[in-house]
Amino acid sequence: MKEEANVIQLPRFLDRRGNLSVIEEEQTVPFDIARTYWIYDVPGGEKRGGHAYRTNRELIVALSGSFDVTVDDGLGNRRTFRLSRSYYGLYIPAGVWREMSDFSTNSVAMVVASEPYDRNDYIESFSKFKSYARKQAGERTRL
Ligand code: TYD
Repeated sequence: MKEEANVIQLPRFLDRRGNLSVIEEEQTVPFDIARTYWIYDVPGGEKRGGHAYRTNRELIVALSGSFDVTVDDGLGNRRTFRLSRSYYGLYIPAGVWREMSDFSTNSVAMVVASEPYDRNDYIESFSKFKSYARKQAGERTRL
């Protein structure tokens, strides 16, 4: 079965001085962390991240504010997650189309990634992604 995007609840240390959450590789994320980047100052109505990766896996956290992440497996299954709490991470396996939209004012999206930045790992057109996903699904069925 193909891995699906899913929400992971991160540890939360509640404190009257303010709360703390943590991401630790192989503990709270199911991969070794190679890279962290964040998206911020997104103008109203803009979309980010419309692409898939061949190898890279990610965990997306709304550190501040809220936004939608739409995931699509290229085989007709599409789902939208609204992230609004900094103690939830959306895990995105490799080979899943993901797009971020509807950013609230001052929102910050932190993305923890399993691979170093590599443009060759990107699938940037949705039609190419659909062919890729169909091919991958065919290969899995033959195993
Ligand atoms: P990109 O992943 O294309 O963002 P989006 O899919 O939201 O449009 O990245 C935007 C720019 O940032 C692009 O010029 C590449 C650069 N970038 C890096 O140099 N390193 C990174 O780790 C990432 C994620 C992006």
